[in-house]
Amino acid sequence: MQVIHTVAELRAELAGAPRSAFVPTMGNLHEGHLSLVRRAGALGGPVVASIFVNRLQFAPHEDFDTYPRTLARDCGMLREAGCTFVFAPSEAELYPEAQDYTVQPPPGLAGILEGQFRPGFFNGVCTVVLKLFNLVQPRVAVFGKKDYQQLAVVRGMVRQFALPIEVIGGETVRADDGLALSSRNGYLDQAERAEAVQLSRALRAVDAAVAGGRRDWADIEAEAMRALAERGWRPDYVAIRRRQDLQAPQPGDQLVALAAAKLGTTRLIDNMELSACA
Ligand code: PAF
Repeated sequence: MQVIHTVAELRAELAGAPRSAFVPTMGNLHEGHLSLVRRAGALGGPVVASIFVNRLQFAPHEDFDTYPRTLARDCGMLREAGCTFVFAPSEAELYPEAQDYTVQPPPGLAGILEGQFRPGFFNGVCTVVLKLFNLVQPRVAVFGKKDYQQLAVVRGMVRQFALPIEVIGGETVRADDGLALSSRNGYLDQAERAEAVQLSRALRAVDAAVAGGRRDWADIEAEAMRALAERGWRPDYVAIRRRQDLQAPQPGDQLVALAAAKLGTTRLIDNMELSACA
């Protein structure tokens, strides 16, 4: 496995090689990321993983400065998982001048849910992902379903800009108690870590309610938010949406429930594809 820090070296290494499967990350890797790398490796060609904490997708009050940077450890894990190239550019390398050209994803998809609570987040994500796609020029890109809305936004960008890239969604990896693995779980203290499982339980309760025949979406969402709030969480949203575009469910749609909530100072997100249709 080769660790590459510059655009020139990346281009030189990838020139003439078969087009890769690409896993973009912000580092501080866990088993969830590694499962995406293994999925990419199973496709046969070279695997490129990027590690870059992208300032453009953080609001000024968010955790850009404190986001854990663990490059040596991450590279060890990526080597074990079968990665071929790690692209870990500095900020000056990826953004040598102010990134004034940006991608504006549509507000109907990128301004709801995460985009409502993190304005500009998906502009930052799309801008860096498009730039990384242009640098790596992969055949396939693998994104985790843990960031369900991000996956939908990236799929839309790839479709509308006709990028010659197949986007694959990798399943969320969970701890034994059901907590979705996330780099931000590392911010939780012991008591919060024990409580954190309640977010996935809330989603499971939503799944059970819909599987049981209820279709009063707003009431189910409100109940889930109230249950979390009663335990001391500060929920941003629990939302039942159709999978294809995260809009309100219409009869027959396949569904997903998405949630974001703060536990102490840590904001966690999770989602669950529901077993019943609308
Ligand atoms: O999911 C992430 O870690 C980031 O949003 C991504 C896709 C690497 C872009 O910075």
